[in-house]
Amino acid sequence: MSCLILNIGQLLTMVGADRPRRGREMSSLGLIMDGAVLVEDGKIAAAGFKDLVLNDGRAKSSRIIDAGGRVVLPGFVDSHAHPVFAAPRLDDFESRAKGATYEELAAAGGGILSTVAGVRSATLDSLTADLRERARRILESGTTTLEAKSGYGLDLDSELKMLRAIATVASMGPLELVPTFLGAHAVPPEYKGRRDDYVRAVCEQMIPAVAREGLARFVDVFCEEGYFTAAESRRVLDAAAKAGLKRKVHADQLTRGGGAGVAAGAGAVSADHLECAEEADISALAASGAVATLLPGSNYFLAKPYPPGRRFIDMGAAVALATDFNPGSCPCWDMRMILSIATTQMKLTPAEALVAATVNGAYALDLGATHGVLRAGMAADLVCWEASDFRELPYYFGAPTVAWVMKAGKVAYSRETLKL
Ligand code: NIG
Ligand code: FE
Repeated sequence: MSCLILNIGQLLTMVGADRPRRGREMSSLGLIMDGAVLVEDGKIAAAGFKDLVLNDGRAKSSRIIDAGGRVVLPGFVDSHAHPVFAAPRLDDFESRAKGATYEELAAAGGGILSTVAGVRSATLDSLTADLRERARRILESGTTTLEAKSGYGLDLDSELKMLRAIATVASMGPLELVPTFLGAHAVPPEYKGRRDDYVRAVCEQMIPAVAREGLARFVDVFCEEGYFTAAESRRVLDAAAKAGLKRKVHADQLTRGGGAGVAAGAGAVSADHLECAEEADISALAASGAVATLLPGSNYFLAKPYPPGRRFIDMGAAVALATDFNPGSCPCWDMRMILSIATTQMKLTPAEALVAATVNGAYALDLGATHGVLRAGMAADLVCWEASDFRELPYYFGAPTVAWVMKAGKVAYSRETLKL
């Protein structure tokens, strides 16, 4: 069954080069006024000027969706998130309001390790149910593909439990989940003083087991002072490559730990965070194939300086934006809030922010060949927004403005009853 979306006031196709967009390419939205999209079998059959799409023979027998003159663009690809956890960290949140820092709370046993305790004692069923509910809200906020990291288990069974919850929720749809193994997120308490043994367990036991079970597409590592050094991070990424898994790095977030260079050198698909990256790190990333994924929601929430987003684009890095949704540093799953922060605080233009949140997000998950662009043959993942100009998305921050969400050709959420 095909479907024809008509009366699209502004259609943002994101059509452009078949690679992550850099520099000026990040301003190019493939914008079409009064556009149309023809969808068949979960994919885009045609997208562009209304007259051209209507000329397609398949358009005649399609059911019609009227977009009401509003804005339609690819669903957001949120390429960095930690959505599996048992409980929010409300005590940490309150303590920070009273003056404690993220680092102080982590050193006092809060932080990542408190979420680890929660995940270890949670059942697979409860983690799955919580993730399913979060996936629903995430889809309803306009994200159609989400990365989902483990990393709050830190022992083989608990990490596998997290990845199984992700696999189950992914199989239920409609939100598409891309699983990442983040066993190297912190050194767990039982390995205190034996960090080398933990790195060995991650490399020699956990990564091979996760790969054997087909539970992750990526391996990520938190390359940071007090977590994993650059040399340890390289070992983890080498083990990932050996197991046939793609690589990501939490790089230069709280300190300049060398993560950007590690990511560039290891052929990582992305280097993420980069708040403390300096000019040499930005050039290394710009010269590499890695996408620079910026997560300004965490800076907002922790009241820390933003990464130099403008500089990344001007120096030719391919920039993606993602939420970093997690209970400690960014409890926000809504990409529109991230667009708002990126434009107001990092001085990306609305167009650059939208490219970063869609097509470059897809490349940050190695999905650029199928996701993030509305062109014949690509996934029919698109969102109709309650807006007549795309700049309204970052402008009206904090208000829900999704009209409907289509995932793989099916309307997965609609605020209104669609007149079909
Ligand atoms: O991306 N940096 C490491 N991991 C998360 C925070 C995780 C947590 O605080 O629970 C991040 O910010
Ligand atoms: Fe993160």
